[in-house]
Amino acid sequence: MDQPQANLTPANLVALHGTKSSVVLELDGDSAPLWRYWGPRLLDEVSLPSLRSTRREPSFSLNEDVPLAVFPTFGIGWFGPSALLAHRCGRDFSQSWTGCAVERDGGAVRFTLTDDVAGVAVTISLALDSASDILTIKTSLTNTGQHGLDVPHLASACLPLPDEALALEHYTGRHNHEFQLQQEALGRGGWRRENRRGITGHSGPCGAVVSGKGGGAWGAQLAWSGNHVQSIDWIDDGQFVWQLGEWLAPGEIRLAAGETLTAPEVLATFSPEGADGVARNFHAAVRARMSWPGGKMKSRPVHLNTWEGFYFDHDEDALRELADAAAEVGIERFVLDDGWFHRRDDDTRALGDWWPDTGKYPNGLAPLAAHVTDLGMEFGLWVEPEMVNPDSDLFRAHPDWALQIAGRPMLTARNQLVLDLTRAEVSDYLFGCVERLLSDLPISYLKWDHNRDLTTAGNALGSAAYRAQVLAVYALLDRIRAAHPAVEIESCAGGGGRIDPGIAMRTHRFWVSDCIDAVSRLPIQRGFLQFMPPELMGSHIGASPAHSTGRSQTLDFRAAVALTGHLGVEFDVRRLATEDRARLKHWIALYKTLRGQIHQSTVCRGDAGDGLVWQAHGSPSQDDDSWLLFVYRVTPTEQRHTPAVRLPFLDKGARYQVSVIEPASDSAQYYPGAWLRNAGLPLPPMKAESATIYRIRRR
Ligand code: GLA
Repeated sequence: MDQPQANLTPANLVALHGTKSSVVLELDGDSAPLWRYWGPRLLDEVSLPSLRSTRREPSFSLNEDVPLAVFPTFGIGWFGPSALLAHRCGRDFSQSWTGCAVERDGGAVRFTLTDDVAGVAVTISLALDSASDILTIKTSLTNTGQHGLDVPHLASACLPLPDEALALEHYTGRHNHEFQLQQEALGRGGWRRENRRGITGHSGPCGAVVSGKGGGAWGAQLAWSGNHVQSIDWIDDGQFVWQLGEWLAPGEIRLAAGETLTAPEVLATFSPEGADGVARNFHAAVRARMSWPGGKMKSRPVHLNTWEGFYFDHDEDALRELADAAAEVGIERFVLDDGWFHRRDDDTRALGDWWPDTGKYPNGLAPLAAHVTDLGMEFGLWVEPEMVNPDSDLFRAHPDWALQIAGRPMLTARNQLVLDLTRAEVSDYLFGCVERLLSDLPISYLKWDHNRDLTTAGNALGSAAYRAQVLAVYALLDRIRAAHPAVEIESCAGGGGRIDPGIAMRTHRFWVSDCIDAVSRLPIQRGFLQFMPPELMGSHIGASPAHSTGRSQTLDFRAAVALTGHLGVEFDVRRLATEDRARLKHWIALYKTLRGQIHQSTVCRGDAGDGLVWQAHGSPSQDDDSWLLFVYRVTPTEQRHTPAVRLPFLDKGARYQVSVIEPASDSAQYYPGAWLRNAGLPLPPMKAESATIYRIRRR
């Protein structure tokens, strides 16, 4: 017989509320709390019948049901994916909780689960930020037993998705082709992605967006720069469970008695405004985690990066001329890329030997750096500290410093190996090299690169060192930042191979892709903006034809695509024709007037059909409802009439003034918000690979 449906007292429920979302868990005695809800905002007071009292299908079920918990574990009645796989030489292979302590603190709750039988304890903290609707989840595992505990898997979070979750958006990628959107229906067969490359990877962070029937969407991303795994499984009580966490190599984690393993954080969110709403919440969370020199982001300075203009061919006089030309067009930060250090004439050698090449720079880098700063620009320098070339003084002196597995070949990629930063002497050496450069030169910016995946990543003890390597890189960055807090750092890994909220907390810009072709960049940047805010998006005006694709585009189009991030220029500006130089100056000046609005903005992205994509940056408040709208025609029109762009982010009850700011025009038009939302903004005919930029203001 069914038990009577008792309403729970609020004490048996944990309800966390954001502005537009809520989370509800039900305490379940000594067991792990049960997931009851993650979705649109509920009323403050939540009351619902206990899951244990609700009706279920009894056939072929355990007499005592094991529903989806905040931390489900294998072997004692739970048949879904386990948040933990652990054992002691084959024993204690299943876990279940004999105690659950709950600590509440405003919008946060902490559960400490103990298992006196298997000898483990797990702590899970959930905090829902009421402003951003970001649910931050932190998980750690302690071995409370007497003997070592092997841990093949520890999830950072297990999130519930309702049966109405339908469509999945995730990203794949490779070098030069990051953030490629994949859209799939969410099926009962499950979905799983694993990354075993040792860094975040060119697909972007471990994360995804899942949309529901009603237009709302759930999103999550892992704050981690190493191996990772995520999966979505259908469980037969009628919902999905989404797991995110580190992917651990065999034997990578063995906890000694009393030892604790802390999993990377998960940032999760529900937004009733779909994928763009999820992006906005992620942006708010990443912004809140950033650690800017001086505590506050300064205007993002226009970069000149020497890479595609000069590659390894550094000539000091030519670089001085480049700096003169750069300052003249309005560049604010001059970044000297690869090629400046001892014997670095190509990518076959020298990584590890971090002192200036005396052939190219007879008096070191100081004269060039002084020339740059005298011109009023900041001086930035490229480094790739985690790497070593076999042909380097460092490797000849310390061949054992590279990650390796005894008896296996050391596999090079771009002719380089990865240093074992888990060894204190290696991290100390690298700290010393970087510290010397930062102390000797007026460097205010480091472009920190990482140009290969990890493989044969064994440490001196012969164990897998993937996880420890990530933690050691974080520690090295933290140490450098503590010693030189005014220096900004860019995270680059062959373009966008290390973009995630873990490294974002220690860096200030991402190099999103080595592909600077403006057409290719549009989807790459759109994908980046799903997870990260625009002020962190390094976007450069590259050469034409683009080095990566061979495609040619006008300077105006290349600039209009680059303008929506942290702008840079990456070609030899000395060689610009007079007309293009004037246009480049114009675009840089325009960026300087718009960056205040683009950076820190609310971002909306869309597709108007017929080869048109758009992106809007704005501030949707009542007092300052003002937007910049970038419309790009990627391919030639197929229609006689250009489609209008529907702008769903505008207020239907307001009236808007719309003016074209690029190509510049004096005229303005007025439209009701409801018209722009539903019928759309009429567009002029546009050629393929061209852009129109509008300003839209509430009037
Ligand atoms: C990587 C980066 C480039 C450039 C080169 C230098 O590929 O993504 O921007 O810095 O390394 O070797």
